[in-house]
This record gives sequence, C-alpha cells and structure tokens, in this order.
Amino acid sequence: MTQPHSSLIYILNGPNLNLLGNREPDIYGTVTLEDIEKSATLHAGKSGFGVDFRQSNHEGALVDWIQEAGEKAAGLIINAGALTHTSVALRDALAPLGIPVVEVHLSNIFARESFRHLSHISPAATGIISGFGANSYILGLDAITATVS
Ligand code: DQA
Repeated sequence: MTQPHSSLIYILNGPNLNLLGNREPDIYGTVTLEDIEKSATLHAGKSGFGVDFRQSNHEGALVDWIQEAGEKAAGLIINAGALTHTSVALRDALAPLGIPVVEVHLSNIFARESFRHLSHISPAATGIISGFGANSYILGLDAITATVS
C-alpha cells in the first residue's frame, strides 16, 4: 500500500451524520459535518492530498461510493453511523478495496451500548479510530497519509 494511484482521499459519512451540531451534542459535540469537511480538507491539503467528502442516509449510495473510491482514491475514511453495526453490504463493499480504509467514529463505540460494540466493517478496514470527536477524522487522515506516503 505504498504507491498511491491518486492524491484524493474519500471521506464517507452514513445515516444521521448530516444532523451533527444539533444531534445529541452531549455525545457527538456541537461541530457540524460542514465544519469537519472544512478542517479535513485543510488538514489533508498540508500533506498534498485532496478530499472528496460525502454524506448519505442511504446504504446503497454508500456502497456505490465505496466502489467508486476503489477506482479513484488513495485511501478511504468511513463513518458509517448506525450502519456500522448492521451492514454486511458495506463490509462486502470494503473488503476487496486495494486502498487503506480507516473506520472512524466521533464517539467511543466500545464505551456505549452493547449493540454498538459490534462493527461489521472493522474486519474490512485497515484500522479504526473511535472516540476523539471531530478529531477522529483528522487522526484518520494522518493514518492514511502515513500509510500511502
Ligand atoms: C457513530 C457511532 C454509531 O454507533 C452511531 O450510530 C452514529 C455515530 C459515531 O461517529 O460515534 O451514528 O458512528
């Protein structure tokens, strides 16, 4: 995984993450998804990478975008939201990708309800960063750039 075929990092966000800022701020903080996109774009730029940042509430759209990332991206960061805990389709889309994949979560999913302790996508990810709020995305970018640079 040392030869990036692109300088683009895909950052994909799943259900309800469009509501960040107002959504359970005690758990997820008050930062909006737009704020995260801006800071991620700025941070990736410092390492010479561009960011393609997307959100969907629909599993199929995320599957399509994961497949697209396999064609176009140097690496993929994914916060699949609740689909993390339910979606075999996302896991199957991630499994054959030949690029580094970092699963990120704002909250520490292992410190929450037991149904969040299972991630279907972790086995198909290169690694997981969970619990650092919006900084999970920045740490995810560092993990990708350190892996592909
Ligand atoms: C989340 C954790 C998930 O359990 C939850 O369903 C989310 C957000 C996080 O970023 O902490 O929607 O992925």
